[in-house]
Amino acid sequence: MPLRLGVLCSGRGSNFERIVQACKSGEIPDAEVVCCVLDRPAGAQEIAKKYGIDCMTLEPKNFPDRLAWMRQIADELKKRKTGLVVLAGFLRKIEKPVLEAFPKKILNIHPALLPAFGGAGMYGIKVHEAVLASKVQESGVSIHLVDDEYDHGETIYQEKVPVMDGDTPEALQKRVLEAEHRAYPKAIAEYIRTLRP
Ligand code: GRF
Repeated sequence: MPLRLGVLCSGRGSNFERIVQACKSGEIPDAEVVCCVLDRPAGAQEIAKKYGIDCMTLEPKNFPDRLAWMRQIADELKKRKTGLVVLAGFLRKIEKPVLEAFPKKILNIHPALLPAFGGAGMYGIKVHEAVLASKVQESGVSIHLVDDEYDHGETIYQEKVPVMDGDTPEALQKRVLEAEHRAYPKAIAEYIRTLRP
C-alpha cells in the first residue's frame, strides 16, 4: 500500500506540485498525495484541481478557536488515512491536535540553513533579506521535523545554495526555490525509507 501524504499549504504551492509529480514519477517511491489542506484561498487550490487531489480550505476565522481549527485539520487528515504530513509553505504554527495525531510524521521545508534565519516572522522574502543583510556567503534549504515552535524540530536534510555578489532578495529567493524543488522530494523519499525498514 502506498504511503498516503497530506500536504498543508498557504500559498502558490510550487513545492506541493513538485511533491505530487515526484510521487507520480516514482522519485518518491511508493507514496501518493491524497489531500491538500489550505488555511486561506490560494494558488495551491488550482494545483490540487489540476491533479484531481482532494483539497479543502479551512480558515481559522471560521472556527471558535485555534485548537478547534487544528482538531478539524487532524480529523480530515486521519479520515484520509494520512501516513505523513508535509508542510509546503504553510504559514501557521502546528499545534497539539495535529502534533499528537502524527508524532514524528510531520515535515516542513524552510528556505535557509536552520537554525539560522528561522523562527516567528521569518518567512517569504524576509528570510532572504535577512540572509543578505548578514553578509553570509551561503544560504540553502532545510527540511525538518515539526514541533510546536516555528522552524524548530530536528533537521533531517539540508542543501546549500551560494549567495552571489550583487544578489537581490528576489534573485536569492529564486535560486533557493530551485534547490527546494530538488531537495524536498529527496528528503521525503529518504525519510519514508526510515519509516519503512
Ligand atoms: C517556500 O519557499 C518554502 O520554503 C516556504 O514557503 C515557500 C512556499 O512556496 N516554507 P510554494 O508555495 O511551495 O511555492
